[in-house]
Amino acid sequence: MEAAFDPAVNGHLPAWREAHAEIKAPPSGSVPRLDESLVWDGAFDSQDAELWQTFHPWRKGPYWIGEMEIDTEWRSDWKWDRLVQAIGPLAGRSCLDVGCGNGYHLWRMLGAGARLAVGLDPFLLYVYQFMAVQKRIPLPAIRLFPLGAEAIRPGLGFDTTFSMGVLSHCRDHAAHLQLLHQSLRPGGQLVLESLTVPASCGPLFHPEGRYAQMRNIHALPDVPTLTQWLEASGFKAVRHVDTTRTTTDEQRATEWMRFYSLQNYLNPNDTSLTIEGHPAPCRSLFVAIR
Ligand SMILES: C[S@@+](CC[C@H](N)C(=O)[O-])C[C@H]1O[C@@H](n2cnc3c(N)ncnc32)[C@H](O)[C@@H]1O
Repeated sequence: MEAAFDPAVNGHLPAWREAHAEIKAPPSGSVPRLDESLVWDGAFDSQDAELWQTFHPWRKGPYWIGEMEIDTEWRSDWKWDRLVQAIGPLAGRSCLDVGCGNGYHLWRMLGAGARLAVGLDPFLLYVYQFMAVQKRIPLPAIRLFPLGAEAIRPGLGFDTTFSMGVLSHCRDHAAHLQLLHQSLRPGGQLVLESLTVPASCGPLFHPEGRYAQMRNIHALPDVPTLTQWLEASGFKAVRHVDTTRTTTDEQRATEWMRFYSLQNYLNPNDTSLTIEGHPAPCRSLFVAIR
């Protein structure tokens, strides 16, 4: 943790620290709203957008901070809507979100009644985005640690573990699934979301070069293959609950994420293909039990 916050490692840290220090707590009496697609601090004060832009690019959200909407690259609330009906109720449960980005879904877990929501993400900008939001929503039962999945040790005993959008970036899928298994108590539930390919691509598709301009995609399974991987890692009652092709409404550039986005990574003449000619990104959701 100390190493992660070492300014010698990340030159942006002083600016992030300064901006974080300037964020004011919400007016007293503000009651946060973390449900119905909302992560809102419950306040009606105006905000200095430039201050919050210090943490550009904002990828996961959206967030409402006072009267300001942080309209992020992703409509992460749509992913939440796809999964929330398919997973066991979160009321009273301890939740771990591995590779949680800036922690958007951690807030939604609390909104769904979780008693504890813990996130892991090694990317420090996202940790600072979380800390900025946390200053406005100072609830105790939520934590984001600047650590990777590798930090998971056996015996953590979480009731529900989420891993969404991480597996396809892992060189060793079995090692990642093993860590997720270890993070759960016996009987605990895994919620896994990952890129998959149609069966017509074969059980395991190796994109040559980039995939939708992502450099670190090594192998993309089809749904039966990913089901087998989960079973081989010791999970029971593996259920595939959804596959959705990502649209340019769900992932797009905004004033809070001014770089290229999905639209620039699809074939302009055929959006069922990436610009490299691979099948366009589809994300599949699974639940399973340790
Ligand atoms: C595609 S994003 C998904 C974010 C979020 N889970 C979601 O579904 O919206 C993948 C995240 O995994 C994080 N990540 C990369 N390597 C990781 C690792 N070794 N352990 C945990 N997270 C990692 C990245 O920093 C990034 O925030």
